Amino acid sequence: MTTYLVTGGAGFIGSNFIHFMFGKYGDDIRIINLDALTYAGNPENLKSVEGRSNYTFIHGDITDRESVSEIFKDNDIDIVVHFAAESHVDRSIKNPEIFVRTNVLGTAVMLNCAKEAWENEDGSFKAGKKFLHVSTDEVYGSLPDDPDAYFYETTPYQPHSPYSASKASSDMLVKAYMDTYGFPANITNCSNNYGPYQFPEKLIPLMIHNALQGKDLPVYGDGLNVRDWLYVEDHAKAIDLVINEGRLFETYNVGGHNEKKNIDIIHIILDTLREELPIDDPRRNNVTENLITYVTDRKGHDRRYAIAPDKIHKDLGWLPDTKFENGIRTTIKWYLEHEDWVENVTSGEYLKYYSSMYDNR
Ligand code: NAD
Ligand code: DAU
Repeated sequence: MTTYLVTGGAGFIGSNFIHFMFGKYGDDIRIINLDALTYAGNPENLKSVEGRSNYTFIHGDITDRESVSEIFKDNDIDIVVHFAAESHVDRSIKNPEIFVRTNVLGTAVMLNCAKEAWENEDGSFKAGKKFLHVSTDEVYGSLPDDPDAYFYETTPYQPHSPYSASKASSDMLVKAYMDTYGFPANITNCSNNYGPYQFPEKLIPLMIHNALQGKDLPVYGDGLNVRDWLYVEDHAKAIDLVINEGRLFETYNVGGHNEKKNIDIIHIILDTLREELPIDDPRRNNVTENLITYVTDRKGHDRRYAIAPDKIHKDLGWLPDTKFENGIRTTIKWYLEHEDWVENVTSGEYLKYYSSMYDNR
């Protein structure tokens, strides 16, 4: 039985990945989820898997070397899927240090503990072990508005935000481990994910949540920045494929070929909300274009991201399964049906964050 150590499994992509893996492999795998439960980690995301005998949750911090080392000593870990990170660009602009601590130091600790556990005396590594480092397309910087310009695996790194700089540093550490020790790893660099369980500080869930409440929809700058949106389950499928079939030491870009301007995303959300809300639901009155409010641009705001997923397509046969028009409808329906979840995660700390970000802009 393969044992996975998933870090950050209580977050957005991590929890979707765990649901996908149990859905696909059932009792044939074991998953240990190591998560510090920061504001972004929510055990509620995993309520339905909690009772499984092949699932263990460990409340812990990836920067805590002793605890991580214990996990490797107590369990014969085959695969590490490393999601845990501080993930929000705006927060990194306000408070970069925590991004360095979690994303850089945390990755170094994970790499070192895995290396110690998996290395043979002669410096080779035990068979069947792999470290899958989940990273982002933001490490490549920003693309011009040229339809032929894409991010490839060979595109030089040019991160701009403290978040992307910290992720670039973590990627470099993984590359250094592969080059120096022959450490068995892959890196995936993925574009913007959307779907259920995404914390409502990110564009899509924030706009859904605010529109339902009749609150302003804050558009940074001119609203024409472009992101390449991928349904989160397609990302989970790509990670599973790279774990099982990706060639060791390779990097794979993962993206949806689904570029959209931010302002267009907002119009799609408003239209879809109006279609999905029952005719007698009082929140329908809130959902209007009048909420769209242009605010001061994000500092260092990258203009355009677009992934060329040619390598993962040609080498491993991966293509996204979910069309954007279906994925966004599923996502909006999920948020409409899980108002209690949104309520829980948007109380307390979130309210303080929201007013520090958006009030008086
Ligand atoms: P998220 O913020 O929703 O979740 C992060 C998780 O990590 C949370 O559960 C949090 O509690 C946990 N965590 C944070 N610090 C920790 C620590 N010190 N120790 C243990 N756990 C800790 O993030 P996400 O959007 O799910 O992103 C997951 C990963 O995927 C990140 O590495 C991110 O860089 C990468 N990624 C995200 C996207 C995206 O669009 N969201 C796209 C490409 C890559
Ligand atoms: O590209 C992958 C990255 O996508 C991941 O590595 C990050 O973890 C993830 O957060 C995401 O980063 P972005 O900065 O692209 O996502 P965000 O949802 O914060 O913003 C998407 C776009 O929307 C961006 O151009 C900024 C804009 N925006 C965002 C917010 C929160 C607004 O106009 N208004 C807003 O209130």
